[in-house]
Amino acid sequence: MIRDIELLYKEIVICTKCGLVKSRNNVIFGEGNTTAGIFIIGEAPGRDEDIQGRPFVGSSGQLLDKILAACGFTRSEHVFISNIVKCRPPGNRVPTPQEAAACMPWLLKQIELVNPRILILLGATALKYMAGNDHKITRERGNWLNVQNRLAMPVYHPAALLRDPGLKRETWEDFKKIVYKYRELIDPTHYSAYV
Ligand code: URA
Repeated sequence: MIRDIELLYKEIVICTKCGLVKSRNNVIFGEGNTTAGIFIIGEAPGRDEDIQGRPFVGSSGQLLDKILAACGFTRSEHVFISNIVKCRPPGNRVPTPQEAAACMPWLLKQIELVNPRILILLGATALKYMAGNDHKITRERGNWLNVQNRLAMPVYHPAALLRDPGLKRETWEDFKKIVYKYRELIDPTHYSAYV
């Protein structure tokens, strides 16, 4: 039984449960406040993340940080960020169901230990593995779901926003709902200059 996040970290960084172990440079555990009210779930580390050992440090991450800043959220205080799989799939392909299945117990344990009130599901892969195969991001983004007995908000992945900037407007509406919920459940005095 892994009872604390540091023990879990030690287990995850030596994981060899799937084939991604062969090509990875780093296992990207995740980062942020380990008692945060919000847990953000992405798909998988990319090239920059694999090199630096941190989640969302490439172009998607820079956009994510801008959105979080507009909400008044910081990585160090308000959120913990991790991914469905902790190692980079070669060529940034989508993780296979086998890779996701091997890695999901780590993520579920992280969520249990951080114990957030709110989950943010970034994109189709996070939605699929957290909520189930029959969920569609285009249909369900912006609507609160119950996932693992927690409130979960599916939103477009920042990489999708970079490919199609037209999706940014709807995504901002979705993040505003997250700020409102954060005030309702966690901190009524939470400040955002824009919401
Ligand atoms: N995209 C993701 O889904 N996760 C990362 O950590 C980086 C890019």
